Amino acid sequence: MSEITNEIKNEIKKRRTFAIISHPDAGKTTLTEKFLLYGGAINQAGSVKGKATARHAVSDWMEIEKERGISVTSSVLQFSYGGYCINILDTPGHQDFSEDTYRTLMAADSAVMVIDASKGVEAQTRKLFKVCVMRHIPIFTFINKMDREAMDTFELLDDIEKELGIATCPVNWPIGSGKAFKGVFEREREEVELFSDTMKGTRMGEVRKVGIHSPEIDNVLTAEEREKLEEEIELLDGAAAEFDQELVSKGELSPVFFGSALTNFGVETFLKHFLTMTSSPLPRMSDRGEIDPMKETDFSAFVFKIQANMNKAHRDRIAFMRICSGKFEAGMSVYHVQGGKDVRLSQPQQMMASERKIIEQAYGGDIIGIFDPGIFSIGDTLTSSKDKFAYEGIPTFAPEHFARVRQVDTMKRKQFVKGINQIAQEGAIQIFQEYNTGMEEIIVGVVGVLQFDVLKYRLENEYNVEIILEMLPYEHIRWIENKEIDMDKLTGTSDMKKIKDLKDRPLLLFIHEWSIRMTLERNKGLELSEFGRS
Ligand code: G4P
Repeated sequence: MSEITNEIKNEIKKRRTFAIISHPDAGKTTLTEKFLLYGGAINQAGSVKGKATARHAVSDWMEIEKERGISVTSSVLQFSYGGYCINILDTPGHQDFSEDTYRTLMAADSAVMVIDASKGVEAQTRKLFKVCVMRHIPIFTFINKMDREAMDTFELLDDIEKELGIATCPVNWPIGSGKAFKGVFEREREEVELFSDTMKGTRMGEVRKVGIHSPEIDNVLTAEEREKLEEEIELLDGAAAEFDQELVSKGELSPVFFGSALTNFGVETFLKHFLTMTSSPLPRMSDRGEIDPMKETDFSAFVFKIQANMNKAHRDRIAFMRICSGKFEAGMSVYHVQGGKDVRLSQPQQMMASERKIIEQAYGGDIIGIFDPGIFSIGDTLTSSKDKFAYEGIPTFAPEHFARVRQVDTMKRKQFVKGINQIAQEGAIQIFQEYNTGMEEIIVGVVGVLQFDVLKYRLENEYNVEIILEMLPYEHIRWIENKEIDMDKLTGTSDMKKIKDLKDRPLLLFIHEWSIRMTLERNKGLELSEFGRS
């Protein structure tokens, strides 16, 4: 293997690729906008994406899809700040929550979790957090909306620790909240950063800093506020985990920051700390062992998302890939491992703030979108290395909603099978079949219910096939890890259903979560998993 060039090394070292996760409305969009504002990528906050695309209901899905360009661009953003090249991966919320949301986390090197200070940990955060934990990537917490009445700070931290099972380490500490919000205390420098009204963030706002031991502090905090702060810090110093970079890197300790994204407060402080605490692109596992971007000279990438173009006239797709090592140059020819042949990567696209642009080059850590004539699948590896290694596959995430699919016109079986298979290949849905009944009926599983509408709409519009979806009551799916298992002898609960995937691997569906435990108890040695292997 030849030496990695300094150019590549330096470019990769500058890269920070992270996903931003939150429950809807916690302030993810606002925080992203503010990052871009500080990065100078946009002149005005509020132009990242229109509210229409940020949150839309099922009914206007089609409209949204027509503007697919916009929804694509909002999924990856690149900007620079302080010498770093930052890639933000957005994880959609609301009804458009889908497997893609989980897969995005597979492409990130760390995650920023935005929490609403008045609400604490919410359902969607919990789901996404599980994937971060599985990957052991660093997780940073931004507790937002401190300009509104917040929960008690210790309670908030307790909530994160209990709900998510991760230790926390506050880098700064809030002084009051809502109308009484004074700012944050920076623990290491022992300084108070004062909150100032930025008129809802329309002004950048200057953050005044006052040392806690300086006489000036009496002019900015009342005796009561100061006393409370001192008490809390004393308690915190005694009780909270100390900052430990190694634990942060392993995803076992989350540095916590407080702020108010809407008013710009705490955003730049967060960004500065985050960029030094998070890591540059990490090594990834392949079938030839770990591939380290700091050592591997050749280009390599894996596909984590495939977006179909809704334009009927051109049934083209864009495959999003995460570059893991080396340098990408437009038009280069690379080996597609799963396809077993060389492919030319044409029309590479990258998102720069709110614009989509054609790019000439990119480096390990970057995300690019490549025109896909229908040859790529989620998890595929592309590389210019002679070694032809393949990155570890992306797990299949557990769908939570299931429906039986019936064709209205049974004569169109061929189109139906083709359409549903292609949509499944893009990773929007998962398809299963009845186990051992000989019936050919298809069961579809999705992570977010909007995907059912997407499936119905796309089959009708792109494949001319009308379907009826009959909802099933199952909410939990488990893959069977044991290789040798006699499915006929397996005894479950009355709400359990045996199904199989397209590779004939058996799976179990359950209505109730407790039935999973019972089934495990009834079948000694049975191993079930929430994630499937592709
Ligand atoms: P999301 O992407 O996580 O779903 O949340 P988003 O940023 O869209 O924010 C949700 C709402 O919370 C928005 O208000 C936004 O302005 C507000 N918000 C975000 N950060 C803060 C903050 O630090 N303090 C306060 N007080 N509010 C915040 P909205 O009324 O739903 O939308 P808009 O009309 O203000 O745009």
